Amino acid sequence: MIDIPAIYQGQMSSLKDIRVSPLSRAYTFSDSVYEVIPYFAGHPLCFSRHIERLASSLQLSHISVDMDVITSELKQLGDELGNQDGYIYFQVSRGVDEIRAHLYADDLEAERFGYAFQTSVSVEPISGMLCEDNRWAHCNIKSTSLLGNVLSMNQARQQGCNEVIMHRAGNMTEAGASNVFYLNHQGIVRTSALTENILPGITRAILLEALTKSNIEVEEGECDIQDFNDAPAIWLTSSTKGMLPLTSLIGTTYFFEKNNLDYLRIKNIFNDAVELHLLAAK
Ligand SMILES: Cc1ncc(COP(=O)(O)O)c(C=O)c1O
Repeated sequence: MIDIPAIYQGQMSSLKDIRVSPLSRAYTFSDSVYEVIPYFAGHPLCFSRHIERLASSLQLSHISVDMDVITSELKQLGDELGNQDGYIYFQVSRGVDEIRAHLYADDLEAERFGYAFQTSVSVEPISGMLCEDNRWAHCNIKSTSLLGNVLSMNQARQQGCNEVIMHRAGNMTEAGASNVFYLNHQGIVRTSALTENILPGITRAILLEALTKSNIEVEEGECDIQDFNDAPAIWLTSSTKGMLPLTSLIGTTYFFEKNNLDYLRIKNIFNDAVELHLLAAK
């Protein structure tokens, strides 16, 4: 097993040496939230936004924990990456029960766990499958309760796909582990508006803010899945994928026009915005 620097309850060690109780509420109930922060050459992309989203997920889940402690632990993990590309995974559970019980004790100590992993953002386009969004109603919380995502994505894998695009009653929500954008046939960039049905992605925000400064027309709102049939480009955004196009989408007639000039321009705008954010982090 490779040596991955990790932290548990403030104690730095190697991931392989961390032992947790089976009575961790993360284990018994998925009663936990998490964050993933990407690093480029050792610099975090939008560190404070990830902290803010984690604080929001914790607050919406009624888990109380000192954010200064978490920030310091995240920085310790970040230092472990040196000047490499990678990401930090960090998870906070409500705590460890004395015995499994839905109703939690009010004095539980939140359980903090994270690790730093060296890797590069994937650049190979992937294929997707359209499916119903059968997750719970609070997908704006970055909860580790991801059974809906896990089942759908693994069903898609049986069709040779790496991702799903989910919809509720014909309106696109998001992907299994990413937000979704597309160019419609009129050349307008469209993405789902922020509601409780999707995660407020940091990468999504980076792209939207950058596009606002361009003359490219953007609409956040309801996205009819019929639009995919004649969309020249559909792409995913996430901390570990950056901006990644879909080559095909099972359940639609979509195919990716990889030389589409609008798409290529949007990709450049995104890359420049990421560079600027990283410069600000130096
Ligand atoms: C369901 C879901 N939506 C969207 C995203 C993208 O969020 P971000 O850009 O902050 O990584 C993720 C990231 O893991 C996700 O799991």
